[in-house]
Amino acid sequence: MKRFLKAERGNRTYWDELAEVHAKSYDYKELTTGGHLMDHIQIVEVGEVRKKSLLHLQCHIGTDTLSWARLGAEVTGVDISPVSLQVAEGIAREAGLNARFIESSVYDLPDKLDESFDIVYTSIGVLCWLSDLKAWAKIIRRYLKPGGFFYIMESHPFLWVFDDESDGLSVRYQYFHREAPHEWSGDYPDYSDPDYMVKSPTWEWQWTMSDILNVLIENGLKIDFLHEHAVIPWKALPSMIRCDDGFWRLPDGMDNLPLMFSLRAHPERG
Ligand SMILES: C[S@@+](CC[C@H](N)C(=O)[O-])C[C@H]1O[C@@H](n2cnc3c(N)ncnc32)[C@H](O)[C@@H]1O
Repeated sequence: MKRFLKAERGNRTYWDELAEVHAKSYDYKELTTGGHLMDHIQIVEVGEVRKKSLLHLQCHIGTDTLSWARLGAEVTGVDISPVSLQVAEGIAREAGLNARFIESSVYDLPDKLDESFDIVYTSIGVLCWLSDLKAWAKIIRRYLKPGGFFYIMESHPFLWVFDDESDGLSVRYQYFHREAPHEWSGDYPDYSDPDYMVKSPTWEWQWTMSDILNVLIENGLKIDFLHEHAVIPWKALPSMIRCDDGFWRLPDGMDNLPLMFSLRAHPERG
């Protein structure tokens, strides 16, 4: 496995920085008043989670992890950023929810956790931080119980070719994967709090839809469905418009594009 440790450490610093910001900018009041923050797409596609064990990879400050806990799942959240997990634990206490949080890179998890789960879950803003999707898929397979399933809802790889600083849809970035990460310097507004200027640089990778599907198939997972959506949970491009249900879409006339995908898969044998 090719590990980019400098990039991983740098990205952890970035997420530690943002966890403090997101502790204030993520609106998680619903969780502390008995509700949850899960959207209607995932509620339907993931289905009943009551009494199911759920492993959440790259859980950040735990708002999705804790939403699944509120819906009855026994949750374990994993993230590389210790500050994110401190915030997640604080929200869990405030919300009166049981959750276990483990600080680990996805790749190192077998050194820290030896169990299997009914559901392995991950969502939104996760794949670009991973240098090795084959290792990621192996981890997913490793943690699934027979009869369990993997679910992901993530930004569509096609979205990332567009210029995120212009109103139109002009192609600016590569679609295909490259082994070396793209390095972004800081000094741009945070996606959750636009008044906060990010300081830390990041290192990111682009993965195509075929990269994602193939690593899952090659690691013994059978795809139950792949859905493509014309909405996304945050304002990823300047021209996006907020919908009534909290998702964002492109303006009329340019809105017939995939912005997000969701996928469920289960272990082929078992
Ligand atoms: C955009 S957040 C995704 C969480 C969720 N969708 C949200 O919006 O709160 C990405 C998370 O991935 C974590 N991360 C990045 N690289 C990781 C790695 N190699 N192993 C585990 N977590 C990682 C970061 O620390 C961050 O918390």
